[in-house]
Amino acid sequence: MFPIQRPRRLRSHPQLRRMVSETVLNTSDLIYPLFAVPGEGMATEVRSMPGVYQLSIDKIVEEAKEVYDLGIPAIILFGIPADKDTDATGAWHDHGIVQLAATAVKEAVPDLIVIVDTCLCEYTSHGHCGYLEVGDLTGRVLNDPTLELLKKTAVSQAKAGADIIAPSGMMDGFVKAIREGLDEGGFQDIPILSYAAKYASAYYGPFRDAAESSPQFGDRRTYQMDPGNRREALKEIELDIAEGADMLMVKPALSYMDIIWQVKQASNLPVAAYNVSGEYAMIKAAALNGWIDEQRVVLETLTSFKRAGADLILTYHAKDAARWLASGS
Ligand code: PBG
Ligand code: ZN
Repeated sequence: MFPIQRPRRLRSHPQLRRMVSETVLNTSDLIYPLFAVPGEGMATEVRSMPGVYQLSIDKIVEEAKEVYDLGIPAIILFGIPADKDTDATGAWHDHGIVQLAATAVKEAVPDLIVIVDTCLCEYTSHGHCGYLEVGDLTGRVLNDPTLELLKKTAVSQAKAGADIIAPSGMMDGFVKAIREGLDEGGFQDIPILSYAAKYASAYYGPFRDAAESSPQFGDRRTYQMDPGNRREALKEIELDIAEGADMLMVKPALSYMDIIWQVKQASNLPVAAYNVSGEYAMIKAAALNGWIDEQRVVLETLTSFKRAGADLILTYHAKDAARWLASGS
C-alpha cells in the first residue's frame, strides 16, 4: 500500500513505459479491406467513408502494392458485381469480380495474403446474405440451399488464388460446408477465417454504401446475432471450431470488446476483430471536424482491440496506422 507502492514510478520515463508496456500494436496485426468494382481507372470515394474507395481491378492492384510496401500482410476483398440476381451468380462465377481481383493481386503481389469475403449479399438482387424463395418478400433466408452456393463460392475463390476464405453470412453449418467444398476441390491447405460471432449491427451502415449490399426488404436479424447476447457468441464459436474454422472473428469490434476477450479465453485459435465501417466513419467524421486527434484516437482504439484479445484487426485505418507506426509516433 501507499506510500510503499507508487505505480507512477514505472511511468516516469518514456523508455521505462516502453519496457513495461503490455500491449504493442504491430503493422503485422493489420488487414486492409478493399472493394472491387468492374471497369478501369475507377476510384469512387464512398460517401460515408472518407478515404475509402470502390476500385476497379487495375486500381486494386496499385493499392495492393502500396499496402504490401507499408508492411501490411493481408487484404480482404469484397466485390461489387455489374449484375445481381437471385442466385448470386456473381459470387460463385469463375470470372466474378472478386475472383478476377484476387487473381490480379496474386499475380502482381504474390507475397500479399489475399483474404476473400465469402457471402452472397453483394451479389443477390435482394441484398440478403443467403438464398430465398423467389417472390418471398418476407425475406426468409433459406439456410441449407445457401450452403450449396457458399460452397461453390469458396471453391471458385480458392481457384482464383485466394489464400484465406472468410465466410461472413452467419448461416448455420457454413464452415463445415465450405471446408468440405474446399477439401473436395483439393484446397485442404486453405484456411477458413470464420465471422463466428457477428452481430446484427447498425455499425455496418457505411459498408452497405460501399458494397451496395443493403437488404431491399427486411433485415439481417434472422441470421446475425442479437447485440445483447454474450453466451450465444460462445455457442457460435464452439460450433465453428467443431466445423473446422482455423481463425475466429468478432464483429463489430468497438462495442464488442467483451466478446473479443471472451472468445480469446474460450479458444486457442487466432482471434480477429473487425473494426467496422461505422466505427471508422465516426472517427473520420470527428477528425474531419477537428474534434479529436485522429492519429492518437486510431492507435489507441487499435491497441485496445489487441488488449481485449484480438490477434488480428481488420480496419479501414490500416494504411494510416502502418504509416504512423513506421514513423514511431
Ligand atoms: C457481408 C458483410 C458485411 C460486413 C462485412 N461483410 C455487412 C453486413 O453484414 O451487412 C460489414 C463490414 C463493415 O461494416 O465494415 N456479409
Ligand atoms: Zn452478407
